[in-house]
Amino acid sequence: MIEDLFENNIRWAAARARVDPEYFRRLAAQQSPDYLWVGCSDSRVPANEIVGLDPGELFVHRNVANLAAPQDANFLSVLQFALEVLKVRHVIVCGHYGCGGVRAALTGQRHGLIDHWLQPVHAICRREAEALEAIIDFDARVNDVCERNVREQVAGLAGNPFVQEAWRRGQRLSIPGWIYAIEDGLLRDLETTIDGPRAARRSAAR
Ligand code: CO
Repeated sequence: MIEDLFENNIRWAAARARVDPEYFRRLAAQQSPDYLWVGCSDSRVPANEIVGLDPGELFVHRNVANLAAPQDANFLSVLQFALEVLKVRHVIVCGHYGCGGVRAALTGQRHGLIDHWLQPVHAICRREAEALEAIIDFDARVNDVCERNVREQVAGLAGNPFVQEAWRRGQRLSIPGWIYAIEDGLLRDLETTIDGPRAARRSAAR
């Protein structure tokens, strides 16, 4: 029931204030997160919870299939604010296995507007068609694209003008690519981290 959400909220706020009476006053004064999280909208991947961070510690952007889309004004606004005002130290791209967006792109079925949004994932599927066809099990194929998609978003971010500008300013900034498994609640590092312009060039050359 939707009324329960208010009850939950009152209990949550009271419990927080009981542990730390200054908690909300401090949070209201400022946020200084070290991380920007770019993740999927999927309700089973709650950003703060899975990395054990409190409000104020993680700046979050979520969309279907965790895309760092270079033409998305919403995402770019979040990214610029995170880099220039919050000065986050890490932009984490976190995908998840079994992603419905990736699955939709792979099956090629028409779903409407989402097909447009998922074009970058469609492009990966087309480009890697040969390698993907070699994976017989469909779920494994979906998971393979989930990983490729994260790598692609990390590489794209490394070439993003706001990111390049931050590195030029001498800001320390790394872009790790992670993937989350809903089945066991665990994150895996795809070891695709790009932490500066030199690493970005190496990645682009691959
Ligand atoms: Co998803």
